[in-house]
Amino acid sequence: MKKNYPLAKVYSLLESGPVIMLSSAYKGRANVMTLSWHSMIDFDPPLVGCVIGDGSHTFKLVKASKECVINIPTFAIAAKAVACGNVSGAKADKFEKFGLTPQPASLVRAPLIKECYASLECRLHDARLAGKYNLFIFKVVKAWVDGAVKDPRTVHHRGGENFFVAGRTVKIPNKMA
Ligand SMILES: Cc1cc2nc3c(=O)[nH]c(=O)nc-3n(C[C@H](O)[C@H](O)[C@H](O)COP(=O)(O)O)c2cc1C
Repeated sequence: MKKNYPLAKVYSLLESGPVIMLSSAYKGRANVMTLSWHSMIDFDPPLVGCVIGDGSHTFKLVKASKECVINIPTFAIAAKAVACGNVSGAKADKFEKFGLTPQPASLVRAPLIKECYASLECRLHDARLAGKYNLFIFKVVKAWVDGAVKDPRTVHHRGGENFFVAGRTVKIPNKMA
């Protein structure tokens, strides 16, 4: 039987996809933040909406540079990914602190993260809702994926200390295929 559920925890029911590590850079300084509030918005070109808190260092870097890279970690580096969400880049170099390897991107200044199985180079497409909802819409302009990683064990935030780990792919016929 269903019972009343606190509204403040509704976010944990609608997990929006894998935890991502969003890297950014401005004036030669790179940063990375952990983010789970994101959503696909369009297919081609791929548009992705990300909620980036206005108190974060990333918010300032993205506003100034109008670019980012969406890096997708797997369970192998889940602890590092979560740790990046508990420290601000305003005070620490998180690449150094957590042993992450920045690699040059091809079209944007923000770095790819070598340890992530996929990296999406993005340009800011629409920031009209950034002032009201901290919502940035990015256009993916280049995508890199490690083809050797089959069934990537992405990590999905369920709220608090709880995470799902993906892994099994099942096929269900549908009209979107
Ligand atoms: C699992 C997890 C998910 C998070 N999701 C978001 C998110 O969707 N949006 C956000 O603004 N912050 C999110 N955070 C918090 C930021 O990662 C955190 O504030 C970080 O320190 C910001 O880094 P920065 O100041 O270097 O930009 C999340 C943290 C964790 C651990």
